[in-house]
This record gives sequence, structure tokens and C-alpha cells, in this order.
Amino acid sequence: MESSPIIAPSILAADFAHLATSVHNIEGAADWVHVDVMDNHFVPNLTIGLPVVQSLRKATSIPFDVHLMITDPERWAPGYAEAGAYNVTFHAEACENPVSLAKTLRAAGAKAGLAIDRDTPVEPYLELLPYVDTLLIMTIKAGFGGQKFMPEMLEKVRDVRRRIKAKDLQVRLEVDGGIAADTIEQAAEAGADAFVAGTAVYGAEDPAEAIRKLRALAERAMAPA
Ligand code: DX5
Ligand code: ZN
Repeated sequence: MESSPIIAPSILAADFAHLATSVHNIEGAADWVHVDVMDNHFVPNLTIGLPVVQSLRKATSIPFDVHLMITDPERWAPGYAEAGAYNVTFHAEACENPVSLAKTLRAAGAKAGLAIDRDTPVEPYLELLPYVDTLLIMTIKAGFGGQKFMPEMLEKVRDVRRRIKAKDLQVRLEVDGGIAADTIEQAAEAGADAFVAGTAVYGAEDPAEAIRKLRALAERAMAPA
């Protein structure tokens, strides 16, 4: 694989009273900051929304990877692109016309991502790969941090990687859920090249060091044999 790994710590596992500090603590180590937006509707949990993203955007230069676990992304997703998010990912299960929304996001200056939840097969979405910049495979059921990684989801990662290779596409293949030192290598071997990690980064004593360790493991597993 040619690209180097993206490590995207999820601030869902950080201290919400000190988000700016939490982000400063990973500057120079993280590639993206993963921001989990949950609406208590698409998923039962409720987190943060646009005002927090707008404020936090001013506090750091690390690109934002916004993961929208919300219904009606057509209505809300463009606002995150306008707020300066680098990548805006919406869920396939919540979107009627993913190609059209991806276009809108790109027109608003962001990369467009499509997320596939645990119970959704990836096959029907493979044909959409040319229209998105990021394909996010959930390796848990979306909604909560701190869940156990599901290795059976890696079959989807392999399917997507095969299609990206076959069509020579420029798509980031991201995994999210339970990514840690003991799981990142298998995800990388399956073909992922972007890794979200919440608990594994913010649950560590030294978040920046945890990121460096994850990166080293991913790099080694991604290296061509
Ligand atoms: C859960 C979120 C994840 C979450 C991952 O629905 O999408 O990004 O923060 O947390 P960990 O890494 O703890 O599984
Ligand atoms: Zn996420």
C-alpha cells in the first residue's frame, strides 16, 4: 500500500470539559481529530453538535474528521463542511442519496465520507466508492465508545480494499471501534489505512505516545511483504 496510516483520535473518550486541552495534547502526533456527533435518534447516545465543532475548530490546526451518527444528514452535514471540517462522514443507513450529499460536501470544501454500521453489508455500496473520499467501516455497533473490536467486520474491509485496488481509487479506508494496540494490526492487514481510536488514546496516560505506538504498529502491518 502506498499511503501512510492516518491516526484519528476520537475526542469522545476525552474530557468534554477540557476539549481544547485534549486536542492540544495530541498536536504533532495525530493526523486527524475524530469528532463523533450523535443525535439521540440515529443512535441512542447524545454527544456534541455544530457549535462545539465551530468553537473547537478555532482551537487547533489538526484537521477534523467529523463522524455524523445522525438522521437527516442532508440537512445537517453541509454545516460541518462550512465550519471547516476536513472530512465529513455520514451514515449510509441514514441517507437516501449518498452521491448527491457527497457532491454537496465536496462543493462546500470538505472531503466526503460514507460510513457503514455493523449490521449493514458493504456490497451494495461498493459502486459508490468513486464518489466518496473516505469509506468508514464500523468495527462495532455505532453509538458508544469503549466497545470490543469485532474482527468479523474485517471481511468488509477486505472487500472494500479489493475494490479500491481494482479500480485504482483514491479513497481512505477507515475503521472505527475498539481500535487499540492489540487490534490495529489486523485492521491494517485487512486493508484499512485510517484508524479511529478513542479509549486507546484518551484512556492512556500519555495520549501522544499512545498515538505514536499505534502508528508504528499500523505502519509495520501495512508495509508490503
Ligand atoms: C462510536 C464512535 C467511535 C468511538 C470509538 O460510535 O463512532 O468513534 O469514539 O471509541 P473506541 O476507540 O473507544 O472504541
Ligand atoms: Zn466515530
